[in-house]
Amino acid sequence: MKPGMSLIKHYLQFKDFRAEEYVYLFERALTIKRRFKNYEKYTPLVDRTLAMIFEKASTRTRVSFEAGMYQMGGSVVNLTTGDSQLGRAEPVEDSARVISRMVDIVMIRTFEQTKLDAFAANSRVPVINGLTNEYHPCQILADVFTYIEHRGSIQGKVVAWVGDGNNMANTWLQAADILGFTLHVSTPGGYEIDPKMAGVTNAACVKVFKNPLDACRGANLVTTDVWTSMGYEAENAVRMKAFADWCVDREMMAAAQPDALFMHCLPAHRGEEVEAEVIDGPQSVVWDEAENRMHVQKALMEYLLLGRIG
Ligand code: CP
Ligand code: NVA
Repeated sequence: MKPGMSLIKHYLQFKDFRAEEYVYLFERALTIKRRFKNYEKYTPLVDRTLAMIFEKASTRTRVSFEAGMYQMGGSVVNLTTGDSQLGRAEPVEDSARVISRMVDIVMIRTFEQTKLDAFAANSRVPVINGLTNEYHPCQILADVFTYIEHRGSIQGKVVAWVGDGNNMANTWLQAADILGFTLHVSTPGGYEIDPKMAGVTNAACVKVFKNPLDACRGANLVTTDVWTSMGYEAENAVRMKAFADWCVDREMMAAAQPDALFMHCLPAHRGEEVEAEVIDGPQSVVWDEAENRMHVQKALMEYLLLGRIG
């Protein structure tokens, strides 16, 4: 091993895991979910502590990690920028050295991916990306799991991304590359995706469309996200104009496969990126998608701390 290289397994981007690790994780998440639904106690993480660091707001990520860790027998420490020294400019490297001596695993939601990378490089324990400006791997883990639950393998399928070339879009790009499906992308001009930045190796896994309706044609899954992500609020007025035609509506869903699913990572703005009739309609699986955050993250934490089970 090269000096400075770490043996610790982190989950900082979707491409940190190989396809066969995802096969394992999706199977494991199914088992863990089934046990939870049957009220079977499963506490492999007794005496383990998860530190959660939030530099941006959250509902789903906070609840799913916290509830998931308690269900597995562990405990949780929650830190935010406002109530810790992180907000008073303590270097992220120092924070990582200290926090990782006291807990067993860390989840971070922050701004730049470089900040997360710097934390991980100085951490003695596994670090999980709970959303950065660039990526949101835990969400796509849940989304793909949800697709598999409803429709079977995602390999060879078409996923349509309508909207911002943001952290969700970048993570879908990595997932398409690794899991072998095609991503149709339509963004307004100036908000394009960057497959090179996302490290996509197979250029054929992504197709770009000017018109969002064209991106949805024949898709097995249509998905979108808010027009203005956290950290970009100053651009809101400009974005509202630029994204006006990138609202997933019934016409787009009708252009997709008859059994196409609709997903949204939430929180959603009805009447902006998605019509109420779509997100609240029969093809939408957004509530399963949100719940599945917890089940896949339990499988993820188990994997990072205990390796493969069985
Ligand atoms: N989807 C998602 O990450 O939601 P929160 O911002 O509520 O955590
Ligand atoms: N792209 C959104 C996702 C929120 C879960 C954001 O970063 O705000």
